[in-house]
Formats: sequence, C-alpha cells, structure tokens
Amino acid sequence: MSKAIVNYIEPSALEQSTDVIEAAGNIIQNGGTVIFPTETVYGLGANALDPRAARRIYRAKGRPSDNPLIVHIADIEMLDSIAKNISDSARKLMDRYWPGPLTLIFYKKDAVPSETTGGLETVAVRMPSDPIACALIRAAGVPIAAPSANISGKPSITTGQDAIREMAERVDMILLSTDSEIGIESTVVDTTTTLPIVLRPGKVHQNKILETIAESEEEFAQLRLAYESLRSSMRTNEGEPKSPGMKYTHYSPDAQLLLLRQEEILDVIREHPEESIRVLTTDRNLHLYGEKGVSLGSSSEEIGKRLFRVLREMDEQGVALILCEDFTQSSHADFLEAIMNRIKKAADNIQE
Ligand code: TXA
Ligand code: MG
Repeated sequence: MSKAIVNYIEPSALEQSTDVIEAAGNIIQNGGTVIFPTETVYGLGANALDPRAARRIYRAKGRPSDNPLIVHIADIEMLDSIAKNISDSARKLMDRYWPGPLTLIFYKKDAVPSETTGGLETVAVRMPSDPIACALIRAAGVPIAAPSANISGKPSITTGQDAIREMAERVDMILLSTDSEIGIESTVVDTTTTLPIVLRPGKVHQNKILETIAESEEEFAQLRLAYESLRSSMRTNEGEPKSPGMKYTHYSPDAQLLLLRQEEILDVIREHPEESIRVLTTDRNLHLYGEKGVSLGSSSEEIGKRLFRVLREMDEQGVALILCEDFTQSSHADFLEAIMNRIKKAADNIQE
C-alpha cells in the first residue's frame, strides 16, 4: 500500500476541518482505513458493518483474526442497529459514562459481521468523547470498528507522530491531533452477564461500575461481595479467557522490561553500571536512580498519559533494559490498576 494521506486537525478549530473529515468519512464508506484520535488512544478505523473492511484492519495491524474489534458509535440510534437485549445495568452505565472511556459488551445483531467480532455472538461498543472521533463517525454514517492503532503486540499509539512513524504505509489516511488525553485504552465491561464484570481495566474502575448499577449503599455492598466471589472463582477456573485479546502478547517494547521492587532495581543498577538501563519511576522516587531514572509524572493521570510514549521513546534511544517500579506501592489511585495491568502484560518477568 502507498503512503497514507496525513491531515492535522486542531481540536479547537474543528469547524474549519469539515473537508478533511468529509474525505475521511468517504474513505470509511468505501471500505478503507483511517487512523483517528480518541480520548484513550489512537484508533485504526474501518466500516464495522463491512466484512472486507474489518479484514483490512486485521491485515494492517498484523492482528490475529479471532481477537474482536471495538465498534465506535456517535449516538444511541447506532447502538440500536448493532446490539440487542440491552440490560438495565448497561443503560445505567451508558447514561453515566457515554461518551467516554468505557466499552460495553452486548449481544450482537445480524448487521454486525463475524469478522468484526472475531466470530463471537457479542459485540464490544464504545461512544468516544473525542470531538474528532465523533465527527468522523457522523461523516462516515456507519459505526466504526477500531482497535488501537499500533502494530499488534506493540505499545498502543498516543501521539500523531507515532501513528505516522508506525502506520503510514499500512492505512489510507491518518488524522492527527493532540496527544491522547487518557493514554490507556478504555475499560471493557461485559454486560451480558448478570453482574457486569470488567474484562480489561481502564480509567473507569470496577467499583464505579458497581456503584453506578446499585440503587442503594446496601445493594452496592451486596454487589461487591458477589463480585469478589465471582472473581475468585474466575481465578481458579482455568479455561478460555473471556476477552480473547487477553491471551496475546501486548504492549511490548523491543527492550527487555522487568517489573521489580525498588531494592531489586537498585541492585541491578549497581551490578550493571555501564549497561543501557533506564528506570521508569515517578517524580517522588526519581532522585534514587541518578541518570538512569525516567519519571512518568506524579499523578496516576500523568503516568497513564505518558506510559506508552515513554516505552516507545526507550526503543528509539536503543535502551536494552527497562526496569519499572510497581506504582501501586506509593499510591492507591484506582487508575493505577489499569496502568499496572498494561505494564505487567508488557513485562518479561511477569506471567499474567
Ligand atoms: O480505548 C480503546 O478501547 C481503544 C480506542 C481506539 O477506542 N481501542 C482498543 O481496541 O483498545 P483493541 O482492539 O486494541 O482492544 C479491544 C479489546 C480486546 O482486548 C478484545 O479482546 C476485547 O476488547 N473485546 C472486543 N470485543 C469483545 C467481545 N465481544 N467480547 C469480549 N472482549 C471483546
Ligand atoms: Mg490494542
């Protein structure tokens, strides 16, 4: 494939970019692929209702075709065309979190081809809040299937420059804008079960899911108990993972990445003084690691926003070994659960 058409869109001047959005919408309608910004990470989009277009997404990413795609919608009418048997709990979650970084799994209608859902009878749906993403979906007039825009197995893409560097030869158009606000992919929640369960952690925490569907404090406490016992039974029950994407290698930089305790990190640095090692840490602990420290920030929001860019930066600098702290040791912010989930999946010394 020849090089993608690249367009920069200034979010505050979206009205001046209607021509570009129209052109991108046409590409989607005609079965092509467009990379576009969302508030979580950049997505690689194509018409969710066209099996050939969905296959082009898998090809562009080098993604296994049994790993289903998330379908992006701009309004509730679009949801009704693709999903059925929507539960009351799902409605509450949509009311509170859409548009935003929450993906819900529903039973699918026939309009959604099995190519989009990796052969499943369910479909993952998200209404993004990013104005450029919404404008693109409206211009296309169809729901847009979009996984994260990276090559399969690599860290997700959170900046326009990374999209160009990695994907320019692989898609028809790239819409660039500012860096992704959240930086970690959406929370994926299964709403086809009696109790909605987080399959992939993200900005919206499981506790917020239960809080939203509970009618009272008492019901919230009951739901928490039910959730805890379900989770421990899920841990002991080996078998098919519920979210197919969870079984593949993820977010891996070329460098080796180890998740270690602070003392272990200091030992490794002491034992290998001349190696190209970097330590991912926070502002608070940066002083511990001298020149080898790289701070991701001080709040969970900053850490989430910078994580994937920094992993890519380490590869650009030819770093051989990345050592990473467990950020939950110093803070219990909800969002850190999602951030550590990505780091553990990327790490070479953790089996998740
Ligand atoms: O924030 C995001 O969700 C980004 C932006 C572009 O919206 N998209 C994204 O897509 O992260 P992707 O394809 O990289 O991750 C989709 C995840 C995978 O883990 C996949 O297995 C799961 O959602 N998934 C999709 N459909 C599913 C289904 N029907 N049942 C269970 N899991 C599903
Ligand atoms: Mg992904």
